[in-house]
Amino acid sequence: MKITSYPEPQPEGFAFTAENAARAKTICARYPEGRKASATIALLDLAQRQNGGWLSPEAIEYVASYLDVASIRVFEVASFYSMFNLKPVGKYFIQVCRTTPCWLRGSDGITEACKKKLGVGLKQVTEDGLFSIVEVECLGACANAPMVQINDHYYEDLTPERMEAMIDELRAGGEVKVGSQTGRLASAPEGGPATLLDLPPPAKFTPPAPSTPNPSAPGESD
Ligand code: FES
Repeated sequence: MKITSYPEPQPEGFAFTAENAARAKTICARYPEGRKASATIALLDLAQRQNGGWLSPEAIEYVASYLDVASIRVFEVASFYSMFNLKPVGKYFIQVCRTTPCWLRGSDGITEACKKKLGVGLKQVTEDGLFSIVEVECLGACANAPMVQINDHYYEDLTPERMEAMIDELRAGGEVKVGSQTGRLASAPEGGPATLLDLPPPAKFTPPAPSTPNPSAPGESD
């Protein structure tokens, strides 16, 4: 997602919680003196997680002041990477991959299923604040297309019906199975592995026999 408009204000301000302040300190300690700006992405991620999935101007300015750099430098980073949201998102932030492999395997149908089920368009948040949908470019799980990312997890081998069922499960507060929704093993072919099926079983490990002490060796007879 690429957002170019300036983020919405958050009048109550922003500051790291004590726990996140400790995390930020640990992160910054990884970089040499005078190179604190290298922690920009990590601290923005921390701020976004604390702030319900998006970065307000106050959060961006807080990170800038924490790192002692100009706010515009941090805003440039926040507005460049699609992993950062400059407007509020739903508790479940659905990113539908729409790049060629997912598109060929039906990503348009997944997006439509989300819109129909949730009654909102792209980049909109449902009334109850639970869901928002965006379309993104390749998320690197092309072998199991079509797929979506919801918060930190991937859900693969989707159909529109499965997508709608997943939304129902999330809305009911249930756990949704992460990964392939068809039971595919990692990125193996549909129906299971088709190659390297006749490999010999791994050799049995035999531990070496314990060595017998040699009485004539220096130090052995003392
Ligand atoms: S094209 Fe969708 S994960 Fe790569």
